[in-house]
Amino acid sequence: MTDILRCEAVPLPQLAAEYGTPLYVYSEQALTQAYQQYAHSFTTPNTLICYAVKANSNLSILKHFAQLGSGFDIVSGGELARVLAAGGDASKTIFSGVGKSEAEIEFALQQGILCFNVESLPELDRINTVAFRLGCVAPISLRINPDVDAHTHPYISTGLKANKFGIAYADALMAYQHAAQLPHLHIVGIDCHIGSQLTDLSPLVEALERLLLLVDKLADNGIVLQHIDLGGGVGIVYHNENVPDLAAYAQSIRQHLQGTNLKLILEPGRSLVGNAGMLITRVEYIKKGEQKNFVIVDAAMNDLMRPALYQAYHRIENTTPRPQAPMLVDVVGPICETGDFLAQDRKLAAQTGDILAVMSAGAYAASMASNYNTRPRAAEVMVAGSQHRLIRRRETITELMANERDYV
Ligand code: LLP
Repeated sequence: MTDILRCEAVPLPQLAAEYGTPLYVYSEQALTQAYQQYAHSFTTPNTLICYAVKANSNLSILKHFAQLGSGFDIVSGGELARVLAAGGDASKTIFSGVGKSEAEIEFALQQGILCFNVESLPELDRINTVAFRLGCVAPISLRINPDVDAHTHPYISTGLKANKFGIAYADALMAYQHAAQLPHLHIVGIDCHIGSQLTDLSPLVEALERLLLLVDKLADNGIVLQHIDLGGGVGIVYHNENVPDLAAYAQSIRQHLQGTNLKLILEPGRSLVGNAGMLITRVEYIKKGEQKNFVIVDAAMNDLMRPALYQAYHRIENTTPRPQAPMLVDVVGPICETGDFLAQDRKLAAQTGDILAVMSAGAYAASMASNYNTRPRAAEVMVAGSQHRLIRRRETITELMANERDYV
């Protein structure tokens, strides 16, 4: 049957039969292509792509990007440990996030990361203190909040004055001057991140322009920067969004950076993995309700939180197309929450036992999974051509209880 949905050359029902469901399935080729698209668009040797680990932190995925030459953007000591375990290079790793603990700062300094993206004055002081204790100098960049509207979902918009992120634009010079006085800090850059799933280039360019104004002002005040970091990548197509053209973004950045000596850092997450993955799930029941029909599947909000959390749209396809007329349905999981849906009001032809593919689930799916309702986290599989291999085995119920067993 040719119309059975595949990942690369492998039919998805075959993966479901072999590894069970729910199951995250990734295409190695799609990962490579997404990375190469960045690498080919941003051709100057002075660009470093730092994959945002939070989007999908599976070791095999990190290893794949490390082998392609990628650096990493981390937000915790745990993510740094993952990067190192996957063979990533600490000297190509930047540490973002508003709440770095002393232990995390110490670990990152010991490993020799590229820089800390610092988000507040007290964080500057803390990094200085830890670096003093370790007898080293910490490379730092300041995350400046450019106060531009990224036009994305409010929960993933980060560059507005009202957000907890970054240092206020008006305070930037003062913050840099403060950093310059701390002997165990070495100022290397400036960074921003205005939000995720951006479908419009203009806020990104606006943020860049605002940062460059600051770079000049800092130079006038004797603070010369080595790099500018523009944060996460462009949005991806989940449904019918128009997404920014990477080449156009690269071109615009190139023009703006012409005549400066600034190196460029980018921290894409979603656009490197989002459309390289899907979540496959088995239909447990078809339930006809009074007002709505439900396709009840074995994946749930604990496997893919995005619909519940951000009203996110994920396309859903039956891996084995059915001839009967589609019904209008909600695709829901077994969790006892009304918010436990993967899709609402979709036309779908499906029957019990069918394997559905929830598309665009490579980013912020497995990495945001939980054990709610004591559901073991799903397995993950990497497909390369006609080959496939388990890259994370399914959790067991015993594992879920392990940390409590000794205390009852
Ligand atoms: N850099 C920083 C500092 C970030 O906070 C993020 C994402 C990125 C880079 C990567 O951004 P991307 O290239 O993926 O747009 N869970 C949400 C997305 C949260 C994004 C958080 N920060 C979702 O599922 O849509």
